[in-house]
Amino acid sequence: MLDITINKDQPAAELYADLTSFATALVDGEPDAIANMANVAALIWQYLPGLNWAGFYRMIDDQLVLGPFQGKTACIRIAIGAGVCGTAAATGQAKRVADVHAFPGHIACDADSRSELVIPVLKNGKVIAVLDLDSPLPDHFRPEDEAGLSRLIEAIANNLG
Ligand code: SME
Repeated sequence: MLDITINKDQPAAELYADLTSFATALVDGEPDAIANMANVAALIWQYLPGLNWAGFYRMIDDQLVLGPFQGKTACIRIAIGAGVCGTAAATGQAKRVADVHAFPGHIACDADSRSELVIPVLKNGKVIAVLDLDSPLPDHFRPEDEAGLSRLIEAIANNLG
């Protein structure tokens, strides 16, 4: 197993650079997308503060299907265009929601969730999965979280499907 230490308290740009290096090393040479998603969900859960859920939904037969995650049990299938995850999957764009209760169609898997960040995983221009992060804190996610996680996902997307 990789022995890597990351300083959680460093500025966001450095933290995400370290997380991206760690994630890239974790998936390097491993073709199994499920195993890689499991490790990346655990990595994010371990190092990012203020989360109550972190994981993946995979695009299967034009639906999002629950993949590896950390947190409470969650909704299994999400239609494209539904909720925050389905919206990110439909548009191929990240979705950062400060107040999930104000988001039309938000799917409440965990009643504690207050804010949410969803990053699409694109391979050859197609959405193959989404990374979903939930927080019990309102307006928890910053633009630098969206930027840092988008770069991390882009760096490892080829090993996620
Ligand atoms: N809240 C998400 C559903 C997934 S759970 O948060 C894990 C949504 O609205 O798409």
